[in-house]
Amino acid sequence: MGGVNLLRSPLVLNDEDGELILPVVQTGRQNPGMPVMPPFPLPPDDVKAIAEYIHSVVATARPQGAPPAGAEVALNIVVGDAKAGAAYFASKCASCHSATGDLQGIASRVSEPMQLQNLWVAGIGGGGGRGGRGTAAGAAPTEASSRRPVTVAVTTADGQRVQGRLDRIDDFIVTLTSADGLQRTFRRVGDVPKVEITDPLDGHKKLFVQYTDKDIHDVTAYLVTLK
Ligand code: HEC
Repeated sequence: MGGVNLLRSPLVLNDEDGELILPVVQTGRQNPGMPVMPPFPLPPDDVKAIAEYIHSVVATARPQGAPPAGAEVALNIVVGDAKAGAAYFASKCASCHSATGDLQGIASRVSEPMQLQNLWVAGIGGGGGRGGRGTAAGAAPTEASSRRPVTVAVTTADGQRVQGRLDRIDDFIVTLTSADGLQRTFRRVGDVPKVEITDPLDGHKKLFVQYTDKDIHDVTAYLVTLK
């Protein structure tokens, strides 16, 4: 496939008569991971004519986001190589997870491959049969509350160490709730008290910047087999 689908492009939708399309055509586009669009040094009037043409096509096209004409297509996102995914899992994920331990049956708990992919790529959503990350924007708070919390250990100047769930931190205070349910706030002055934060998802955040599309597809293809 070439560039983006112009019928669904917000830029095209927001363009009135070429003013947004013009700079793209004249300077081209080079976004990482996207096919390069070369610049077309056309005179503005020509671009305007092209823009008009695009708008006329959009106007007669089917509604935004409508599936293509014909039979409905179920999008198959399981396009990776499960074997390669298993190897990737062994080298990058197995330090924290196990296919026969915590992730056993993950594909049965989260049977929708797209959700499963979102779940592991974002690393959010606890187990226990939750559906994983939904696509609705409003789903975020529930996810946040069901994932393992970020914890903090505070060591005061006199050597007292208090641990708990991190509630809030800024340059001036740190607030935590310890296991007994007690909430405590410490004033921070420079490095005192000492504050150590543990985010259970650090591992995911570090990996997140390393995944290629192929890694993502392969690992998902592998996880789908963990029924
Ligand atoms: C450094 C440790 C670490 C590494 C490495 C790591 N994870 Fe995780 N992963 C976690 C933690 C912690 C959670 C959150 C568990 C929770 O919230 O209960 C998690 C959550 C998940 C979940 C959701 C589990 C569930 O039951 O909802 C999946 C799926 C997952 N990871 C897959 C992966 C895959 C695939 C990789 C490798 C590409 C990976 N993880 C690498 C620590 C790690």
